Amino acid sequence: MGYILVTGSSRGIGRAALALLAQRGARVIGHGSRPQPQDASGLAFIAADLADPLSVDRLWHAALEIAGGKIDAVVNNAGRFEANRLERSDIEWLDAWEDTLRVNLTAAAQLSRLAVLHWQAEGCGGRLVHVASRAAYRGDSPAHWHYAAAKGGMVAMHKTIARAYAGQGILSFAIAPGFTDTSMAGDYLASRGGPGLLADIPLGRVASPEEIARIIAFCALDAPESMTGAVIDANGASFVR
Ligand SMILES: NC(=O)c1ccc[n+]([C@@H]2O[C@H](COP(=O)([O-])OP(=O)(O)OC[C@H]3O[C@@H](n4cnc5c(N)ncnc54)[C@H](OP(=O)(O)O)[C@@H]3O)[C@@H](O)[C@H]2O)c1
Repeated sequence: MGYILVTGSSRGIGRAALALLAQRGARVIGHGSRPQPQDASGLAFIAADLADPLSVDRLWHAALEIAGGKIDAVVNNAGRFEANRLERSDIEWLDAWEDTLRVNLTAAAQLSRLAVLHWQAEGCGGRLVHVASRAAYRGDSPAHWHYAAAKGGMVAMHKTIARAYAGQGILSFAIAPGFTDTSMAGDYLASRGGPGLLADIPLGRVASPEEIARIIAFCALDAPESMTGAVIDANGASFVR
C-alpha cells in the first residue's frame, strides 16, 4: 500500500484518520501547523503553517521525500474555525476572512494541484479526500460566513477535479461532517449554548472523530472508482438533502 498524506493530523479528525490508515497498513505522513514532540507512534510528521502561501509547496516536497517520490493519496483535512463577528473593524473582518479562505480552501487547492500534476507526470492514478463540512450546504453561524464559503468552495473544487481527471484514474471524494467531537466543535458548542444544540441532531449526539476517520479511510482506500465526485454526509441526520 502506498503513501498517504493527511493534513491537519496533529489532533482531532485528522489524527484519528492517520491512526486508522496506519492500522489499515497504509504508510502515512502526518501534518500540523507546528512541530510536534516525537510520539511513540513513530509516524512521519511534517510541520507547515498553511497560512503561509509558500508552505504548501514545502509540505508537498517534504512529503514526497519521505515517500521516496510517490504519494498515492492526499487527505485535505486541515482547517480552522474562528468566529468573525460583523461588528469587528473592516480590516479585522477582512483579515479573518482571508486567513480562513487561505487555510481552509486555497491551501487545499494548492495541494490538490500539486498532487494532480504529480499523478499526471507519473502516469498513474491517485485519490484526493477533502474534509469539507455540513456548512457547505447548510451555511453556518452569522460569525462564520468565511468558514461556510470556504467549505462550499471546497465542494465545488472537489466536483471539478473529479469530473476533470476521472479518465486518468485521479479520483476525488468529499466528506461533509456535522458537529464532531473535537476541540473545534467543543468551542463552537460552548459558544452557541452548549448541549441544547444537540436537540437539532436526531441521532442525539455529535459524531466522533473515529467515525469521520472511518469515512476518510473508506474514501482513501476502499471506495469504488465509480464513487468519484461523491460528497458523503455525516451529521446524525441534522441536515438531510
Ligand atoms: N469538528 C467539527 O465539528 C467539524 C465539522 C465539520 C467539518 N470539520 C472539518 O474537519 C477538519 C478537521 O477538524 P477538527 O475538528 O479535527 O479540527 P481540530 O481538532 O481543530 O484540528 C485542526 C487541525 O488542522 C490543523 N490546522 C489548523 N490551522 C492550520 C494551519 N494554519 N496550518 C496547518 N495546519 C492547521 C491543526 O494543526 P495544529 O494542531 O498545528 O493547530 C489540526 O491538526 C477541518 O477541516 C474542519 O473544518 C470539523
